[in-house]
Amino acid sequence: MPAKKDDALFGAIARFHGDRPWGRTLDAGTGSHSLGWLLSREPAHLTAVTGAPSRQTALEAEYADSLRPGDQIITGNWTDPTLLHGETFDVVLADYLMGAIDGFAPYFQERLFGRMRPHISGRLYMVGMEPVPWSGDTEGKRIIVEINRLRDACILLAHHRTYREYPRSWAVTNLEGHGYRVEDAISIDIIYKRRYVDGQLDVCKRKLPYLRDRRLAAELDRHIEELRSRGLHHLETAGPIRFGSDYVISATPR
Ligand SMILES: C[S@@+](CC[C@H](N)C(=O)[O-])C[C@H]1O[C@@H](n2cnc3c(N)ncnc32)[C@H](O)[C@@H]1O
Repeated sequence: MPAKKDDALFGAIARFHGDRPWGRTLDAGTGSHSLGWLLSREPAHLTAVTGAPSRQTALEAEYADSLRPGDQIITGNWTDPTLLHGETFDVVLADYLMGAIDGFAPYFQERLFGRMRPHISGRLYMVGMEPVPWSGDTEGKRIIVEINRLRDACILLAHHRTYREYPRSWAVTNLEGHGYRVEDAISIDIIYKRRYVDGQLDVCKRKLPYLRDRRLAAELDRHIEELRSRGLHHLETAGPIRFGSDYVISATPR
């Protein structure tokens, strides 16, 4: 997931949605940000799906005061044909879900929109991130690339799975192939700030205890902190780093 340019992304969804009611809404890949924003839309009923039981528990605690009778957070996997069997929703939000699929259902990305289609009586909003290039033409971009590579290396060394982002063009083609009409789409530049540098390098740190080779873990720890001070120094002296983009697609089943 990228730096938080997401208020602009949700703002775009609000514009695309206009005055239509939110009705029965599904947060198809839930998290604190999407769940909070969807609750603020005051849908008639909200269902939120996560692949991780720990996330369900954490969100139920965080939103205990905001969830209304009938709202539900459930743990499931989109690969399971019985998940939400027979249920339809006026609005389905897939907020950074595609990029996270690899961790829960590797190779399922191709089929996700087809799997969700029978559940959509109204429209689907997809939020995604263009894959970050593996090189950059400025020092700031090179630092972001280095952070991303280090993060993924630490995740893999911990024997966990990394995210895999998909381009907007892929998402549009895939949606059309699964019988959706793309109604609107917008790309929004990502602006990387301190929160991203710290956030991603903290992910690296959290993976270190899983490494069996403790000398490698110690050396990675040193490297993480060296990159953090280089990244933060660059932000302080040169300012935020504009690099790559997120996108929102609005689509309806044909
Ligand atoms: C990166 S988070 C999405 C960001 C989130 N909307 C937020 O506001 O922070 C990805 C979510 O999709 C869920 N997810 C990923 N793959 C899944 C799958 N195959 N089935 C169900 N949920 C899945 C994850 O468990 C997580 O809840």
